[in-house]
Amino acid sequence: MENIYLDNAATTKIDERVLDAMLPYLKDSYGNPSSVHSAGRQVKVMLEDARDLIAEFIGARSSEIYFTSGGTEANNFALKGLAFAHLNKKNHIVASPIEHSAIRETLEYLHYRFGFEITYTPINKYGEVDIDFIKDSVTDKTLLVCVMHSNNELGIINDIPAIVNIAKEKNIFVHTDSVQSIGKVNFNVNEIGSTTATISAHKIYGPKGIGALYIKKETPIDKLIHGGKQERDRRGGTENIPAIAGFKKAVEILKEKMDKDINHYASLKKRLFSILKNDFADKIIINSKESGNSLNNIVNISFNPQNTSVDADTLLIKLDMNGIAVSSGSACTSGSVQPSHVLKAIGCDDETARSSLRISFGRENKEEDIDNLVDVLSKMIN
Ligand SMILES: Cc1ncc(COP(=O)(O)O)c(C=O)c1O
Repeated sequence: MENIYLDNAATTKIDERVLDAMLPYLKDSYGNPSSVHSAGRQVKVMLEDARDLIAEFIGARSSEIYFTSGGTEANNFALKGLAFAHLNKKNHIVASPIEHSAIRETLEYLHYRFGFEITYTPINKYGEVDIDFIKDSVTDKTLLVCVMHSNNELGIINDIPAIVNIAKEKNIFVHTDSVQSIGKVNFNVNEIGSTTATISAHKIYGPKGIGALYIKKETPIDKLIHGGKQERDRRGGTENIPAIAGFKKAVEILKEKMDKDINHYASLKKRLFSILKNDFADKIIINSKESGNSLNNIVNISFNPQNTSVDADTLLIKLDMNGIAVSSGSACTSGSVQPSHVLKAIGCDDETARSSLRISFGRENKEEDIDNLVDVLSKMIN
């Protein structure tokens, strides 16, 4: 049985070339980039090349890129860093209600521990934030607007430049979690205009445990990780050099392949949408937007409770037994299965949210993978 991996929004398979690029830094090139001897300096050259490349890829300056241990740390750094640098000055944050837990939990922490007031924006049925609401809810006390560039469960893309336009009139910062967008759509910080933006390497065929935060120059932000003077004294700790070498390679490959990748995801999405609409119209509700401001690699579906009785977690196990990996719309929290907050926020009831699947395409997927998935789904529904 051939394994079919359709969970690329969770993580991607590391590219062989990425692995090859990492190995020398796990073996012979083991110097500490902060050391002045040649073993250290040689590694420092790679570190700064990686920074230059990642900066160029998103239209930033090299000095605006800070390596972190991944998307979660980068999101924590942005939110806590901005909040702590402005404690007792501004205490209001406007955020999308369907952010990743790395943002949600950090916002809750800032609220309960430091009294930040958080206003959550309404969203439409695709998960897009209400820009007019943001305009009406910002005040002189608003420090930050935090809206993800694209959503990891639905694939919807938000209009961050429009949010930046509102924010800049009042000197408000904008953080955008762009983890799912990098490599799936053009993402250029000059066009987006946000103050900070998050990247994670394992979503782009790179290694896990490495990411970066873009911080616009001259942004007053506190350190999150205290320690040495690494990362221009903004993030302590010896840099994860092998992972950064892999991250660099992943971005090099992306530079070459991104257009092809995007077209590939688009054709897989088109095929899946067309089969679902033609053959499963009364049984499956598609939660993702078909085109326009939506990622091509994520399709979220729910089983219509009126015509089917499908529990996504059982389905997930059955799909897994058939060699197919996808994600469900629920997560096991504290021993109980909770429906996804994202699906609930777009109006799904608990039952529908629990019977949802996220299918996310990657470079290696073929059209047959879609057909196989649909085949298994159809047998299970019927
Ligand atoms: C939108 C989004 N933000 C942040 C993260 C966290 O990134 P990492 O796994 O690198 O900590 C993820 C990962 O699933 C994500 O999808």
